[in-house]
Amino acid sequence: MSTTGMTRKYEPRVPDGVDVTRPSIARIYDYLLYGKDNFAVDRAAAEKLMESRLDPRRLSLANRAFLVRAVGFLARQGIAQYLDLGSGLPTSPSVHEVARDTIPSARVVYVDHDPIVVAHNDALLATRDGVITVRADVRDPDAVLSDKALSDGIDFGRPVGVLLLSVLHFISHEEDAAAIVAKFRERMAPGSYLAVSVGTRDGADPEMLAEATETYAGARMPFTLRSRAQIMELFDGFDLVEPGLVSLPEWRPELNTDRTPLKGPTLGAVAQLRK
Ligand SMILES: C[S@@+](CC[C@H](N)C(=O)[O-])C[C@H]1O[C@@H](n2cnc3c(N)ncnc32)[C@H](O)[C@@H]1O
Repeated sequence: MSTTGMTRKYEPRVPDGVDVTRPSIARIYDYLLYGKDNFAVDRAAAEKLMESRLDPRRLSLANRAFLVRAVGFLARQGIAQYLDLGSGLPTSPSVHEVARDTIPSARVVYVDHDPIVVAHNDALLATRDGVITVRADVRDPDAVLSDKALSDGIDFGRPVGVLLLSVLHFISHEEDAAAIVAKFRERMAPGSYLAVSVGTRDGADPEMLAEATETYAGARMPFTLRSRAQIMELFDGFDLVEPGLVSLPEWRPELNTDRTPLKGPTLGAVAQLRK
C-alpha cells in the first residue's frame, strides 16, 4: 500500500501467480507513489523511467490527485457506486475512502488484470462491505461485465461512476479503446459518469516521448499515446463537465493542487452520460 512520503526497503510476500522476474505496471506505479508492494525488478524499471525527462513520479502523483478530486466530485453529485477499471494496488486515499467521505455506503468494484492487485486488495479489504476486487482484463469488456462478483457489486439499473484512470494508454490503437468504453457506456444508467485520465502525444516533446516509449517497451510494457481528438472519441455519448478535457493539474484544482505543468502531457476529464 502506498501512502505519500514513505518508502520501505523490504521485499513483500509473493502472492500466488505473481511473476517477480518481470516488472509490472501496477508495481512500478506503486513504487512511483512511494508504496512498498513492489520488487527489485519493478524498482529497477521505475528508476530507469525516472531517468527520462517524463518525470513519471510527479505524473503519478498528479494522476492520483486528479482521482481524488474527480471521485470527490462524483460523490458530491450523489454517485454511490463505482467501477474502477485498471484500479492498481491499494493506495491511500483510495476510491472507496474518497467516495465514503461523502456517501458512507458507497460501493466500489475494483478491476485489474494483475494478480498482485487482487491479492493485496483482498487482504486489505476483506472486511469492508461493498468493496470488492475482480481480476479481469479491461480489453475484454464482455467478460468484465459478465463477472458474477461484479454484477453483485454494481447495480447497472442505477447511476454508476466508471473510472478509467491512467490505464487506456496501455491499450493499443488496434485494441480500440473507444469501442471498449462504448461497451461499458451501453450498460450505464442515465445519470452515470465516466472519468478518464490518459497520456497524450499532443504538446509532448517528441524526443522525450521517444525516450519514454523506449524505456516502457524495454520493460515489455508498450504504451500508446493518443491525440486530443482520439481521446475525445472516448467520450462519445457523454457530455464533458467543466472544465472539459484538460491537463490533470488544471481539472478543478483545489488550494493544495500543484499546478506546475506536467512534462509528460496527460489529460483528464469527467463526463456525464448524455440523456
Ligand atoms: C498506472 S496504474 C493506474 C492505477 C489507478 N487507476 C490510478 O489511476 O491510480 C495502471 C493499472 O492498470 C492495470 N491494467 C493495465 N492494463 C490492464 C488491462 N488490460 N486490464 C485490466 N487492468 C489493466 C495495471 O495492472 C495497473 O494496475
